[in-house]
Amino acid sequence: MQALSSIKPSAHLADVRYEIRGALTRRSRELEAAGLDIIKLNIGNPGRYGFETPAHLRQAIAAHLADSEAYGHEQGLEAARETIAAQQRARGATGVAVERIFVGNGVSELIDLALRALLQPGDEVLLPSPDYPLWSAATILNGGRPRYYRCLAANGHLPDPDEIEALITPRTRALVLINPNNPTGAVYPRALLERLVAIAARHRLLLLSDEIYDEILYDGAMFQPLAEVAGEVPCLSFGGLSKVYRACGYRVGWMSLSGAPACTAEYRDALQLLAALRLCANVTAQWAVEPALAGAPTIQALTAPGGRLHEARRAIVEGVAASDYLDLVAPGGALYAFPSVRADRIAAFDDNDFALRLLEEEHVLAVPGSSFNVPQSRHLRLTLLPPPTQLREVFVRMERVLARMAAEQAAQPVAAMA
Ligand SMILES: Cc1ncc(COP(=O)(O)O)c(C=O)c1O
Repeated sequence: MQALSSIKPSAHLADVRYEIRGALTRRSRELEAAGLDIIKLNIGNPGRYGFETPAHLRQAIAAHLADSEAYGHEQGLEAARETIAAQQRARGATGVAVERIFVGNGVSELIDLALRALLQPGDEVLLPSPDYPLWSAATILNGGRPRYYRCLAANGHLPDPDEIEALITPRTRALVLINPNNPTGAVYPRALLERLVAIAARHRLLLLSDEIYDEILYDGAMFQPLAEVAGEVPCLSFGGLSKVYRACGYRVGWMSLSGAPACTAEYRDALQLLAALRLCANVTAQWAVEPALAGAPTIQALTAPGGRLHEARRAIVEGVAASDYLDLVAPGGALYAFPSVRADRIAAFDDNDFALRLLEEEHVLAVPGSSFNVPQSRHLRLTLLPPPTQLREVFVRMERVLARMAAEQAAQPVAAMA
């Protein structure tokens, strides 16, 4: 037998990262295996924190098990797509039709599919920094190049349209928005969306709007669907059951193509071809789409005052206000907060080092901001999913690590700090 050689992965993966389930999470599992209790704030997985999928969604799936044994339509069950189309029409989107709606195994699958159908090698995609890292990964894996526009805390984590326009080159194909945003919780105002649509129209870009957190809003924040503002401008809007309906294990997401149909006919056909190549999305869980979108809303009980997510957000806002070291733009939506460590309190700060110390010394797992494609981050992403009492405990522990870091720096000779 010839000597065995190692199997090399594709070179495309060299720049692809997903730290939310990366090295820190693996270390956390080791600590748990050694018998330690770890408080996990790293992942937006509602089912892991005692949130339940509404009973009427489960019942709809159970009632249709026998109808779920054959492959379904490549774009999704007709009934599910009709319901999504009705939602998009009610939101004021232009050119909505069941033929322009695609159901996938979560938004994750559709992000990849949408970019695969669009990009030629070297094409550029405008992505927010910070981003949800799958957007960067899917851009790179499909031959594209991320061009990041900043969403700085100093600007409420909102992008600057002038900066976005200055990044556009002849290779730019698409502008991605995540609204409400993961990881910052920013909710984009209509006036900002109008400026971004005008840029997309001027430069013939496809708008890609990840709206998976569309109904998770706090303190009166208003969500404005991009498709309505975009009108005739081609726009793909993404939504799903994972977050608003706490059903991420079901793996159901959708995307709706809006705008002038003539401009997107070829692109739509490409999406259909790619959807057909993977045959269809999981049929079983698609029966939950209609009861979810047409039934009584259930998320508001969690996001209104007294609701679990509202109180979790309040615990975080109050934890930051009481901290000697932290700053925060309070999240308007989604399931996360993105606090930062003040430069006037800890000058030399490395978010990866901090997250590792928080895990090793205080048994709290959170994700460093630089995992979301932000250079030199002073941020940390926390999820709003643990019980509020546990979040208050997290702030006690974070403060202890930060106090130790500040004391260590104060003890260092001035020359070492330079
Ligand atoms: C912004 C954003 N988009 C997409 C996804 C993927 O969602 P899905 O469970 O539908 O694949 C997530 C998951 O956390 C997310 O935060």
